[in-house]
Amino acid sequence: MTDVPVVTVDGPSGSGKGTLAALLAKHFGWHLLDSGALYRIVAAIALERGIDLSAAQALAQMARGLDIRFENGQVVVDGVDLTDRIRHEEVGEAASRVAACVPVREAILDSQHSMRKPPGLVADGRDMGTVVFPDATAKIYLEASAQVRAERRYKQLKNKGLSVSVHALLATIIQRDERDTRRAASPLRPAKDAIIIESTSMSIEKVLEVSIAIVEQGLAST
Ligand code: C5P
Repeated sequence: MTDVPVVTVDGPSGSGKGTLAALLAKHFGWHLLDSGALYRIVAAIALERGIDLSAAQALAQMARGLDIRFENGQVVVDGVDLTDRIRHEEVGEAASRVAACVPVREAILDSQHSMRKPPGLVADGRDMGTVVFPDATAKIYLEASAQVRAERRYKQLKNKGLSVSVHALLATIIQRDERDTRRAASPLRPAKDAIIIESTSMSIEKVLEVSIAIVEQGLAST
C-alpha cells in the first residue's frame, strides 16, 4: 500500500459519482480515476471487434493489450478518440456485462492502482472502496432513487443533443443496478467503512460540501 491519499466514490449508475468525483479532484487538486470508463472502453472495443461479451479470457486479453490514455478530458485508446463513443447507452449496458467477468476485472486492476500518484487520487466506480482501494483515506457511497437518477441522466443526454425517454432510461438503470449488485465479482455495495450519502433531494453543491468535510476528516485522522 502507499501513503498517497485516495478518496473513493462508489454508487449505482447515475448517482452523480462522476460529477462529485470530478469536483472533489478539482477542489483538492488531485488526480481523477473514472473506473467506469475503463469497463466502457473494453465494452466499446469488444462491440467493435465482435468479441462475445461473455468471452471472459478473450476480453481480458484484449483489455491488457489496449493503450489507454486520459488526456485533457479526452479518452484516447490506441490513438483513437473514444470520448463520445463510450458514453452511449449501448456501451454502458455492454460495460456492465463485461464488468461481471473476473478476468476482465483482474486485467485492469494494475492500471487502476497505477493512478494513485501524489498529491492524491479521487476514484469513482462500484468497487473502489471495497476491492481496488480498501485502505482509502475516505470512502463515500452515493445513493439516489432510481427515478431521480434516470431524470438526471435524461438531462445530461438531452444537453448533449441525444434523445432518449426517461422511461427507457429508468428501465436500463434498474436492470444495470440488478446486474451490478447481484454479480459474484466485486458486486456494487458500500464498503463497511464507507459513509453513505443519500442524495435524492440534495443539490450537487450540498453533496460536495458534505463530501469535502468527510475527506477532510479522513485526512485529519491519518
Ligand atoms: O460508472 P459507469 O456507468 O461508467 O460504469 C459502467 C459499468 O461499468 C457499470 O454498470 C458497472 O457494471 C461497471 N463498473 C464496475 N466497476 C467499477 C466501475 C464500473 O463494475 N469500478
